[in-house]
Amino acid sequence: MTAQLIDGNALSLQLRAQVAARVQALQAKGITPGLAVLLVGENPASQVYVRNKVKACEDAGLHSLLEKYDASMTEADLLARVEGLNNDPRIHGILVQLPLPAHIDGQKVIEAISPAKDVDGFHIASAGALMTGMPGFWPCTPYGCMKMLESIGYDLKGQHAVVIGRSNIVGKPMALMLLQKNATVTICHSATPDLKAMTLQADVIVAAVGKRNVLTADMVKPGAVVLDVGMNRNDEGKLCGDVDFEGVKEVASYITPVPGGVGPMTITMLLVNTLEAAETSAAKDH
Ligand code: GUN
Repeated sequence: MTAQLIDGNALSLQLRAQVAARVQALQAKGITPGLAVLLVGENPASQVYVRNKVKACEDAGLHSLLEKYDASMTEADLLARVEGLNNDPRIHGILVQLPLPAHIDGQKVIEAISPAKDVDGFHIASAGALMTGMPGFWPCTPYGCMKMLESIGYDLKGQHAVVIGRSNIVGKPMALMLLQKNATVTICHSATPDLKAMTLQADVIVAAVGKRNVLTADMVKPGAVVLDVGMNRNDEGKLCGDVDFEGVKEVASYITPVPGGVGPMTITMLLVNTLEAAETSAAKDH
């Protein structure tokens, strides 16, 4: 069998058109959704990510504010800047790009963001809301994965989903979202003794480790759906995911490519979260 691709670029195009239409509706009421992106230091990958986020905002008609700070910025100064943005009515979403320099406590900075503007969904209040099924912002990468499953009409009820990776940004929230849709969820990680025994039972596999070839064809049940969150470089320097795409595509029913899979969806869901923050704020003001 050759798997069908879940095309993150094509799905993003559709969803971003819907975002742009809702942005226009808000603008008719005099409100432009605004995202502030804070980058501290010169991490080259972070520079690319923030550039892509800001460009996506512009393309969809959102206002974006990119603030770049020297790596020597103090934690107190960054906290003060976040507080300023919390109180800025033109800004509906605040994103502090991670990782931060070692002398800054990243979790402390995230907790300083108002939960109403936490469009990354990393605040402990957002995490708690996801855990308990209350309204709140969902982290963009796993949220994008859920949209990809929705796009193929996949019903998770009673299906076995295996998540590889347990980060706060992807693995843990991914597991909670799958659980909310009534999947049976297994979380695997570096201390899982027999990963293959787990993945062979899976109807859906989400690979979110950050290491090449974590998932190979012999580890996948025929017909499984495979979502690849990885962003790695192969020996030739080409972007690749955590999944051995060439092998696994012969076994899976659906698979996401890298690039052009989960990556663009992450940015799309950031736009959705920022738009919804602005819509919520507009509804409160009326
Ligand atoms: N660093 C890597 N991914 C992300 C992300 O989704 N949000 C932020 N703020 N930083 C990141």
